[in-house]
Amino acid sequence: MSEKKPFYITTPIFYPNAKLHLGHAYTTTLSDIIARYHRLVGDHVYFLTGSDENTQKMVDSAVKEGKEPLVFLDGIVENFASLYKGLDISYDQFIRTTDQKKHWPGAQALWQKLVAAGDIYKKAYEGLYCVGHEAFITEKDLVDGKCPDHGTVPEFIKEENYFFRLSKYAPQIQEKIETDEFRIVPESRKHEILSFIQNEGLEDVSFSRPRKAAWPQGLGIPVPGDDSQVMYVWCDALANYVTALGYGQDEVLYKEFWPANVHVIGKDILRFHAAIWPGMLLSAGVPLPKSLLVHGFITSGGKKMSKTLGNIIDPEELIEEYGGEAVRYFLARHITPFEDGDITRESFKEIYNANLANGLGNLSARIMTLAEKHLDVGTRPEPAGFEEEYTHALESFEVHKALDFVFTKVQALDRTITETEPFKLIKTEPEQAKKIIFDLTQELYSIARMLNPFMPETSEKIKAAVVANKKPENLFARKD
Ligand code: MSP
Repeated sequence: MSEKKPFYITTPIFYPNAKLHLGHAYTTTLSDIIARYHRLVGDHVYFLTGSDENTQKMVDSAVKEGKEPLVFLDGIVENFASLYKGLDISYDQFIRTTDQKKHWPGAQALWQKLVAAGDIYKKAYEGLYCVGHEAFITEKDLVDGKCPDHGTVPEFIKEENYFFRLSKYAPQIQEKIETDEFRIVPESRKHEILSFIQNEGLEDVSFSRPRKAAWPQGLGIPVPGDDSQVMYVWCDALANYVTALGYGQDEVLYKEFWPANVHVIGKDILRFHAAIWPGMLLSAGVPLPKSLLVHGFITSGGKKMSKTLGNIIDPEELIEEYGGEAVRYFLARHITPFEDGDITRESFKEIYNANLANGLGNLSARIMTLAEKHLDVGTRPEPAGFEEEYTHALESFEVHKALDFVFTKVQALDRTITETEPFKLIKTEPEQAKKIIFDLTQELYSIARMLNPFMPETSEKIKAAVVANKKPENLFARKD
């Protein structure tokens, strides 16, 4: 066990039925910033992400492309990995729910705990199943007979399933959320789930499906003791947060890192994470995660970014043109995590030019050109702690505020240069000018340190330039 404070952070596991778009990249980038911040302040961080593979929609996509599902999956997962490389995502593990060595036995161990608690029972069931949601939906959710989110007609399903007694845990879940023992951030999402529990209650959930003969061998985790059934995909998927740590098997990681400090999710999957997941954990006698960070949607031109609407921005295109650091910067500063945030190619370009190329990039070059010319040696400023405003923002997941704080410093340095004109002063008052330039380098170093969670490479480049007393290499050179 490490002496450092453990910090376990997770992203949702993404459906690998298509390439990830900027909305998905947002969740992962936000999580990465929080993970890097905690490493920076000395915590022992474990950062998990992955893919949710045992799903019907994945099989449908594979069939459409004429590929074997498992071959199709490998291709998509490779695409995830290259996107994460482009965005410099510092994950410690990528879990795939088709992993039969770790995930399956772990999920089955969890299932057996639910059985032991008397919370799994068999029931004949009929209902409307939306493949897009991977969940049953009700008649009253439909618009013109279709799921309004996916524009598809749900399947009518009549079958015998295992159910999970979620209703039993409603009062406990409610209490843990109310008291913040299981903290939901922001408050508005906490109220949303609490009023849902109060007004509609929590019904038992269908937790298995009959195994489909057509599914490739291996797809869907067999229900322990009943091979004719596979676990419901959300039961399987949610379990990833503990199976990745070796739950039910080799529990070294599990012992150090569970309960998770934060699960980062989008607002569309709040109920699964704030009702079903805590219900499963309570039933299994496993402690609940400490918090759930629920972010809004990335929209483009005012509409939710989605394949159906055709307004997807491919993060790889932006990375190719502007670099991964610029994409990280945009997502961190110009999207407010607790609300929906808009991006268009035009707004991205404008902000890139104003704040990065002409802002931070230009400032670093100006200061270090002066330093290279007039100071004898570079200096490594003593690392001090971080200012309260910065740490407070990051501790409360308000990454945009932390970055606003850093950029206020960037502007302040720009002003200092304009007001003191060290490049002129050097001719008349060389000592005073050198002092000003020296102080500017120290401030720049401190800015670079604070940039670490947001733009790790830029942060290193600026720090190295200050230490070497040299102009940094072109920081934001855009490829047209
Ligand atoms: N597989 C489930 C999660 C299981 S976690 C145990 C899933 N996958 S998903 O690929 O559909 O979505 C994963 C996350 O991406 C969701 O949290 C969702 O909110 C996020 N995003 C998808 N589109 C988005 C935007 N346009 N904007 C921001 N995030 C959005 O759900």
